[in-house]
Amino acid sequence: MSDPLRLGIAGLGTVGAGVVKIVRQKAQLLQSRTGRPIEITAVSARTRGMDRGVPLDRYDWEDDPVALARRGDVDVFVELMGGADGPAKAATEAALETGKDVVTANKAMLAVHGKALAGAAEAAGRVLRFEAAVAGGIPVVKALTEGLAGNEITRVMGVMNGTCNYILTRMESAGLTYEEVFEEARALGFLEADPNLDVGGIDAGHKLSLLASIAYGTEVAFDAVELEGIGAITIEDIRQAADMGYRIKLLGVAQMTGRGLEQRMTPCLVPADSALGQLEGGTNMCVLEGDQVGQIVMRGAGAGEGPTASAVMSDIIDIARGTRISTFGRPAAELKPVTPATSATPAPYYLRMKLADKPGALAKIATVLGESGISIDRMRQYSHVASEAPVLIVTHKTSRPALDAALAAMPATGVLGDTPVALRIEQI
Ligand code: HSE
Repeated sequence: MSDPLRLGIAGLGTVGAGVVKIVRQKAQLLQSRTGRPIEITAVSARTRGMDRGVPLDRYDWEDDPVALARRGDVDVFVELMGGADGPAKAATEAALETGKDVVTANKAMLAVHGKALAGAAEAAGRVLRFEAAVAGGIPVVKALTEGLAGNEITRVMGVMNGTCNYILTRMESAGLTYEEVFEEARALGFLEADPNLDVGGIDAGHKLSLLASIAYGTEVAFDAVELEGIGAITIEDIRQAADMGYRIKLLGVAQMTGRGLEQRMTPCLVPADSALGQLEGGTNMCVLEGDQVGQIVMRGAGAGEGPTASAVMSDIIDIARGTRISTFGRPAAELKPVTPATSATPAPYYLRMKLADKPGALAKIATVLGESGISIDRMRQYSHVASEAPVLIVTHKTSRPALDAALAAMPATGVLGDTPVALRIEQI
């Protein structure tokens, strides 16, 4: 029988406990699929002795994840602690230095240190894999690095933060405000310890930057992701977008353009009847477009014990089978520095504003848009409330700088009742 593959697992939260359960409960299946037993040698977590729903007594315990990473009886260091720096990075580096392969779910660490860690893995002749870092149980990293490796990737899109999608879809279905649903999400335990990672778009931005690196052969450039969270979305926007045939999603888009790499994680309108528009609750969706394959849509759980542990296991199984793929699908030294696109690809925009009930108010706004070269596609005005009328405008395709110039010129018209909301309409 082949030698067992020996795991050291650091981090025993929901995902870590899920991995331990799979290794214990599916030993036979894993062995038959890989040709060798997969075993756990040692584990590590911040607190010992708490009930994690799975017995740990047969594994050695290490208080220090770096000590776990350096053990001679560990072949694969499984990093499930999280955090861009600190113990996760120190232990990952220690594991690579001492000749271990590494499997991680840590999007923040890879978004910041991806190229350096991938380079360290290659220098050590080891692999560093991260399927669980992006979109939980959806095998999107594998799809990009392997299944679509014969394609030029033309666009990567994704709803990759389940909490934000839960909040936006629940606001619509229950008619609740952002604040009400945010509190509900907190009570359900959906929010990260720092909720801004979710609602500020940072978590999803990390994920997008990792996919962009694989898709375009560029260094991971999280700093170059245009980020906007969902905190300013109102129930009014959701209702009015729905009225015009759209849904609002925190949508990630990465595409290589003649102006450089465009990476956006922003609230966008998508057609309500599109696959992205139909995505409900905490589910994730990744949409990949390749020059040969066309469009691939992958939908599934983006978080949770089973789905995320399933993704961790797929990397462990690859290692057990001897499948060795570079972290970002090509040698780290070949990843090119990113030239960020200076402005997003032109698109139609949805604008919402309140206008004063005065003759010529609407004409003034239309003039400002016209002076920026922006043409109106559709428009609606609702009845006045306290001498102000909500107005919705859908523009023809325009560039973001042209739109920003128009938005900057609007207050001087003296007819605005509030700050206009502008959301991009993504063409799917
Ligand atoms: N907080 C994330 C989400 C899961 O809501 O999708 C972990 O990345």
